[in-house]
Amino acid sequence: MEKFVINGKTNLKGEVTISGAKNAAVAILPATLLVNGICTIENLPNISDINIYCDILKTLGVKITQTNPNTVIVDTRYVSCIDAPLEMTGKFRASYYLIGALLGRCGRAVVGMPGGCKLGARPIDQHAKAFEALGATVEIGQGKIMATTDHLVGGSIYLDTVSVGATINAILASVLADGTTTIENVAKEPHVVDVANFLNTMGADIHGAGTDIIKINGVKELHGGTYSIVPDQIEAGTFMLAAVATRGDITIKNCITKHLDPLSAKLKEMGANIEEISGDTIRVWCNERPKNVDIKTLPYPGFPTDLQSPMGVVLSTAEGTSMISETIWESRFQYTAELNKMGAKINVQGKVAFFEGVNDLYGSIVSASDLRAGAALVIAGISANGTTEVHNIEYIDRGYEKLEEKLRALGADIQRVKE
Ligand code: EPU
Repeated sequence: MEKFVINGKTNLKGEVTISGAKNAAVAILPATLLVNGICTIENLPNISDINIYCDILKTLGVKITQTNPNTVIVDTRYVSCIDAPLEMTGKFRASYYLIGALLGRCGRAVVGMPGGCKLGARPIDQHAKAFEALGATVEIGQGKIMATTDHLVGGSIYLDTVSVGATINAILASVLADGTTTIENVAKEPHVVDVANFLNTMGADIHGAGTDIIKINGVKELHGGTYSIVPDQIEAGTFMLAAVATRGDITIKNCITKHLDPLSAKLKEMGANIEEISGDTIRVWCNERPKNVDIKTLPYPGFPTDLQSPMGVVLSTAEGTSMISETIWESRFQYTAELNKMGAKINVQGKVAFFEGVNDLYGSIVSASDLRAGAALVIAGISANGTTEVHNIEYIDRGYEKLEEKLRALGADIQRVKE
């Protein structure tokens, strides 16, 4: 077990380069199962969730060669249609993408009931609904999900809830199905579009990703090719919020500034300075106490739930009282109890949290409850007076590539220490 030890209080300053998007990468890796060939995947984030995914794919006979820390060559010509090990697939949420991909490739998929960050109930009924609409049978029980089909046939899918995972899984299952599939009430997140772009690069026929309706004309087969994963908008947003929380000045490179609009709009409302230097570089700086705002998390292009906790750190020392309504995950306010240990004044009432801004946070011993909460506590530690210890940092390693190295380059005093 490791922890971060952080000596505050630092105004983060300098440049940071954003890695590839975790939530695109964890879908594109299993999507390679639909290809009978060799794919080169570039700009892959070097994080533990990706290492686990590569290990799972290897158990299915996929050959993976890493040519540098962020590029892999994935050879899916010799895939065995066997069940993925339950103990591995049950470890993290995104293993559910194996179902759509293996249904398309093998007509059968068995995965452990997906684990992942503890954000509250994480149903997969919409995934099952999509697979069934394409002619699969889905059984859920005894800690696993089993989906089988003789033949996938295109169909109409209307999702009851806007779900990133169900949208991507429906795309994966329909790419090689016979005929045309339409999916309505879909998620429009940049990583949904990136998965569709990857599949189209390999020969799929997907239209409308990023809009309200996605249409997929099934094709007979996909071919290999090279694809570079989109920059991680949540990592970029985390550094933007770190600039404001620490009253710093950070230039964020290799991001897609358009994807950051929901956050940029709120930060401007709070009085922070944002300069779009180009389509892939944005500078954020803030010398004064930000103004209070109200925030509601929503599917893209709304304010992302994955930036709710780092935004909570900023609101903890903003002027007046701010409010966050969390509409996606029921247990995403666990970090507020940790921030209160650092002197914040946050009062959670169900799905709403009220942040009474204080002048300063102070160092304390705190613990990450999920990936984004972990990043938020690190930012809080850098902005606080004194020393902060952040425990459970394995959550952070799941999704942020070299977080402490990037923060140190911006001036943070942060060390990874074995417990
Ligand atoms: N939902 C259902 N039924 C379903 C699927 C989802 O009711 O079958 C509900 C969920 O309970 C939730 C809402 O729909 O209330 C949205 O869930 P979604 O399916 O969009 O979430 P997800 O695909 O499981 C992905 C990201 C999360 C991110 C959410 C929302 C991945 C691997 N995970 O999860 O990322 O919070 O979308 O944007 O892509 C993170 O990166 O820290 C993270 C948790």
